[in-house]
Amino acid sequence: MLQTVYCPMVHGFLLMNYLLPLHFTIRYNNMSNNFEPKVLAFVCNWCTYTGADLTGTSRIKYASNVKIIRFPCTGRIDFLLILKAFANGMDGVIVSGCHPNDCHYSTGNFHARRRWILFRSLLDFLGIDTRRICFSWVSAAEGAKWAKVVNETVANIRELGPYTEYHRVAGFLSGNNTEKEKEEHHE
Ligand code: FES
Repeated sequence: MLQTVYCPMVHGFLLMNYLLPLHFTIRYNNMSNNFEPKVLAFVCNWCTYTGADLTGTSRIKYASNVKIIRFPCTGRIDFLLILKAFANGMDGVIVSGCHPNDCHYSTGNFHARRRWILFRSLLDFLGIDTRRICFSWVSAAEGAKWAKVVNETVANIRELGPYTEYHRVAGFLSGNNTEKEKEEHHE
């Protein structure tokens, strides 16, 4: 006799010996395919960090995939930290500070913007995926904008998938890749 069991996930009965193991295998695989992007945000203390605080106090909901690291100013952010973030498993990075002419130290964000333009060309040249890096200005009064920046970045990274490619590119640049990986990189 065929035995059945009720499954609340599908709101129906499953045949005990036949469909049940299959059902849970498929469900387990779907769960393990659920990619949650890991994003690191380098923000300045005076504008974006305060803006992010406002997002919370205004109870605006946004993706919880972002970890924030606070700097005194975007001019203080060493862009090599972006590569370190990828090397440590991040899938995306946000750099955000005060709007132009609003920097607490007057020109820090202009320095950051100039360095970013140069650094982005270099990253492009090296084969690093710059679509995973979001550079933005968010003021202390723009809680809603911070939520939008985070949500859009997370959605974008979710579409791009995990940045597993980074280690292959970094290995190629440092000469640590195997011959096979080097050939693949040239393709
Ligand atoms: Fe915010 Fe300089 S203090 S960018």
